[in-house]
Amino acid sequence: MKVAWITGAARGIGLATAQRFLAEGWAVALLDIEEALLARSIAAIDLPERTLALPGDVSDPAVVEAAAAAIRARFGRLDALVNNAGVAVFGPILQTTLEQWRRVMEVNLTGPFLTGQAAAPLMAESGGGAIVNITSISGLRASTLRVAYGTSKAGLAHLTKQQAVEFASLGIRVNAVAPGPVDTAMAQAVHTPDIRADYHDAMPLNRYGLERELASAIFWLASAEASYVTGQVLAVDGGFDAAGIGLPTLRGQRRNL
Ligand SMILES: NC(=O)c1ccc[n+]([C@@H]2O[C@H](COP(=O)([O-])OP(=O)(O)OC[C@H]3O[C@@H](n4cnc5c(N)ncnc54)[C@H](O)[C@@H]3O)[C@@H](O)[C@H]2O)c1
Repeated sequence: MKVAWITGAARGIGLATAQRFLAEGWAVALLDIEEALLARSIAAIDLPERTLALPGDVSDPAVVEAAAAAIRARFGRLDALVNNAGVAVFGPILQTTLEQWRRVMEVNLTGPFLTGQAAAPLMAESGGGAIVNITSISGLRASTLRVAYGTSKAGLAHLTKQQAVEFASLGIRVNAVAPGPVDTAMAQAVHTPDIRADYHDAMPLNRYGLERELASAIFWLASAEASYVTGQVLAVDGGFDAAGIGLPTLRGQRRNL
């Protein structure tokens, strides 16, 4: 039985991804800082023989080391790591505190660095595996309010390439998925009505993505179907990264300026 380790798996895109791997017959280790929510989500999944709860902060090296040891003890192997845990702080550069900057960097960028170090030797023991890092369209194109978040995700996109190059010799492929907006708790916290309207104006598919649409791309990159794909960032974003100006005019729906 193949084994996946998914961070930030108690809700949102991470939980949908855990459910997808489970539906494909994998075992899943779910790590999340929200211990009670994680326990509730795993109880709702109700597959105790194929799930492992790993409560803790992904930016804490001791937590990450203990998580890898728990996966080894319980399943004896690791085939996929999905670095999905992330935090978003939106604010202008001049109002972003050093504390906010540091927290976003340590969760979104240091976390995947640590889990990659912990996961790669375990994956290599059974011939290799795949890592999927969850970045963001905010790491592909700069925007207002995202100095810490966008910069952390751009850093994660580069970490993806570093890991892909170095881990290839261990049989490990490393790719990233850059989601467009998805209506999760995170988006509800930081997407104001204006931001939501801006997104629609910039997205050819003219809608938010669904958690399961992200899970689909993540699972594909982790699976043998993507066996020759490594070092890539796949935007799953309704066309956001492809588009420039002009969509509202094309649609005949210019917003009042
Ligand atoms: N929702 C969007 O619009 C969107 C867009 C682009 C990228 N993303 C990225 O997708 C990923 C998932 O986002 P989501 O929308 O499902 O968010 P979410 O807030 O619903 O879920 C994130 C999960 O990560 C957990 N988490 C946060 N900090 C953690 C830490 N230090 N250690 C362990 N777990 C931690 C949270 O408890 C939560 O369960 C994130 O990396 C996010 O940046 C989301």
